Amino acid sequence: MDKKNIEWSELGFGYIETGKRYVSTYKDGKWDEGALISDPMITMSECACVLQYAQTIFEGLKAYTTEDGRIVTFRPDLNAQRFADSARRMEMPVLPEEQFVESIRQVVRANADYVPPYGTGATLYVRPYMFGINPVIGVKPAAEFQYRAFTTPVGPYFKGGAKPITIKVSDFDRAAPCGTGNIKAGLNYAMSLHAIVEAHEEGFDENMYLDPKTRTKVEETGGANFLFITKDGKVVTPKSNSILPSVTRRSLMYVAKEYLGLETEEREVYFDELSEFAECGLCGTAAVISPVGKINDHGREICLPSGMEEMGPVTKKLYDTLTGIQMGRIEAPEGWICEIM
Ligand code: PLP
Ligand code: COI
Repeated sequence: MDKKNIEWSELGFGYIETGKRYVSTYKDGKWDEGALISDPMITMSECACVLQYAQTIFEGLKAYTTEDGRIVTFRPDLNAQRFADSARRMEMPVLPEEQFVESIRQVVRANADYVPPYGTGATLYVRPYMFGINPVIGVKPAAEFQYRAFTTPVGPYFKGGAKPITIKVSDFDRAAPCGTGNIKAGLNYAMSLHAIVEAHEEGFDENMYLDPKTRTKVEETGGANFLFITKDGKVVTPKSNSILPSVTRRSLMYVAKEYLGLETEEREVYFDELSEFAECGLCGTAAVISPVGKINDHGREICLPSGMEEMGPVTKKLYDTLTGIQMGRIEAPEGWICEIM
């Protein structure tokens, strides 16, 4: 199979239309068997529930070319579970987890010519999503839904790749205490758009959101969970039920403990503690682990000792081990790697 003629190592995190996408429709109380199609456009009623009341959820995962030339994905079963959790919270039908994983297999295989070659630093991002499509005008859930999964080749989420970024403490809240912060609903991202535009205009790469109730604890950013490294090498991640349970973060906590022998802690992280940490990183499918060099709190700078030049040493070890597992250089825990072809 010939690969597309793309400058893989120049890719940023953007959308490039690829050949096929997977579509399945939910109607009369059941999902159809799903199919791959070529048309990237969607036609729907002006009154579709997704357009009026934002009934939409999504996932994000990647396909990798391994060192020995296979194409694999990473823990798609966890994305399937989280997608089901998101659907239940949003009054949407659950797509059977097997169908979710099968859709990923099919769409990656069908777009194999867009899976970046090993060693380019790029990957094929897979975006599964579901939305309410029939007309709804009174506020209630849709009765008909479309599930889709498309792919797009991507490079690093933050320009500069592994270069440390600067983030600001946001005055906006990302999630309400009993809201939807723990699921992957489009609405969580819609409300972050104003905050991210403002952060970018002020020269920051991302926002740090605090817990909306007390504004004393660290939650997450608009698109990734936090990891902190203490000065004595412990890996700490915030515990909160209003943040997204990141697949990357859960995997990294396991890697830290089982592969690197580090102590790990998932606990509430108070904003006041930040100056005591040695390293900070953002972790997620898109972000992988992006090191944070500086946190700006309304003009007061909290500078991580790891600095603005490179990833801190523990973050680097975590990064190398996780990407080593994903690209087949390091043996993966049972069930983590899903071979596509
Ligand atoms: N937090 C938010 C708000 C996200 O959008 C994402 C991305 O999916 C993550 C965390 C990281 O989750 P994962 O590692 O499962 O991609
Ligand atoms: C992902 O990491 O897959 C996400 O969905 C985050 C998004 C901000 C791109």
